[in-house]
Amino acid sequence: MQKLYIFDTTLRDGEQSLGITLNINEKLAIARQLVVLGVDIIEAGFPASSPGDMNSVRTISREVKGAIICGLTRAVEKDIDCCAEALREAEQPRIHTGIAVSPVHMEKKLHMSPDQVIETAVAAVKHAKKYVHDVEFYAEDAFRSDPEFLVRIVEKVIQAGATVVNIPDTVGYATPWQYAELVSFVMNNVKNIETTIVSTHCHNDLGMATANSLAGIRAGVRQVEGTINGIGERAGNTSLEEVIMAIYSQKSLYGVETGINTREIAATSRLVSTITGVPVPNHKAIVGANAFMHASGIHQDGILKEKETYEIIDPEIVGVPRNLIVLSARSGRHALKHRLEELGYTENRYDLEAVYKKFLDLADRKKEIFDEDLHVLMGLNGKDANGISIANISVATNGVSSATATVSLEINGEGITDAACGNGPVDAVFKAIDRILRIPVNLEDFSLNSVSRGSEALGNAMVKVRCSENGVVVGRGVSTDIIEAAAKAYVNALSKITTC
Ligand code: KIV
Ligand code: ZN
Repeated sequence: MQKLYIFDTTLRDGEQSLGITLNINEKLAIARQLVVLGVDIIEAGFPASSPGDMNSVRTISREVKGAIICGLTRAVEKDIDCCAEALREAEQPRIHTGIAVSPVHMEKKLHMSPDQVIETAVAAVKHAKKYVHDVEFYAEDAFRSDPEFLVRIVEKVIQAGATVVNIPDTVGYATPWQYAELVSFVMNNVKNIETTIVSTHCHNDLGMATANSLAGIRAGVRQVEGTINGIGERAGNTSLEEVIMAIYSQKSLYGVETGINTREIAATSRLVSTITGVPVPNHKAIVGANAFMHASGIHQDGILKEKETYEIIDPEIVGVPRNLIVLSARSGRHALKHRLEELGYTENRYDLEAVYKKFLDLADRKKEIFDEDLHVLMGLNGKDANGISIANISVATNGVSSATATVSLEINGEGITDAACGNGPVDAVFKAIDRILRIPVNLEDFSLNSVSRGSEALGNAMVKVRCSENGVVVGRGVSTDIIEAAAKAYVNALSKITTC
């Protein structure tokens, strides 16, 4: 079996499309989890695009070991210089440089002739080689390029030293057989192709990113680029978890294997969704809440007789344990620890006493504690947002539209209370918090959904706020009281602005 390299671009192509700003701690948490998952390459950002990206690529390079750390550049010297500087402390640095190669991009966007594009590409690769050995070249919009021209430019950049060549379907236009045909054409016509790794990078505009990536593997690519949960520009990028499990399920069809620890897939998906505020649809392949549930009577009957009737993947392989016990206030530390272990939380990653206290607190308010509740509980196992916690909230509403809220916050040990009226209880609470914290933001989005089942379920609130300095920032809050959940999410977002 040949090795298939997994290239994760959640923090670059994924993040750049969200319109939100993740702070460096959030990016580090994702990068560290990607190492635990076992990806080979982490594309940490586009350093020349902003001081924030520069800082995050630099910090990830310094702090995260165990994977190649990659930075994106245009085929522009100053981008490459900036990227090399950001990658300076990386254990295994890679510069990912490139230029568009389709007629429409060359003529209308770059205003360059094909020969000028080749010259610029070769110069960029040579410049990047002055800094690092590992240089990946991307031929942007390769799928809509003239295949003969693609062969020409790929051959030249390999001569210039490119170690990896990326053939993106930038606009998600390909079908699997067309994409495979293009990759085969490159493999068969580029003379020096065996000295490099060919990579696939597909977008999902027609819902075929995973299929196209798999077709690329069958045609000879040995690196797949994508994101966790498929987040990314427009309809998203290839979902790495889908490609990984397609290969896992039918290894002989692809003749490749990955170094991925599949049992970390569910945890990685949850972390990315929580941090980015992008929910995973219930029906999403591999990581959706319903991906391993059997609802119809015929299916349930089949599963009870023989799992293989309707199950192609054992959920435990991707880190979703079978739900055999439900915890309650009567469950002891041992039962809690056991279930947490099954969910992928090893004891050295948390303080059992602290978690058990929070568990009992929740169990007092809810009769049954489900796995989803435990994930939330583990997410809350940190400190309150930047020294700010909610001491009290009281809301009076006349049942029609207007409401009055009184909120008490504790900021670094000091209590402050204020009140405001609003158009409904959530609006009133947010306005009262604004009066206390005085951080000027615009609320861009607010959503609330329930974690697990029943009317006593935890409410999971997400807010996105925009501020002039940090762009859009996401906050989350969870509570059995939905107004408190909303308040926590708002405070959480505002606290990130003060720390960004
Ligand atoms: O979609 C694309 O072509 C890209 C490149 C910059 C690699 O994201
Ligand atoms: Zn892309």
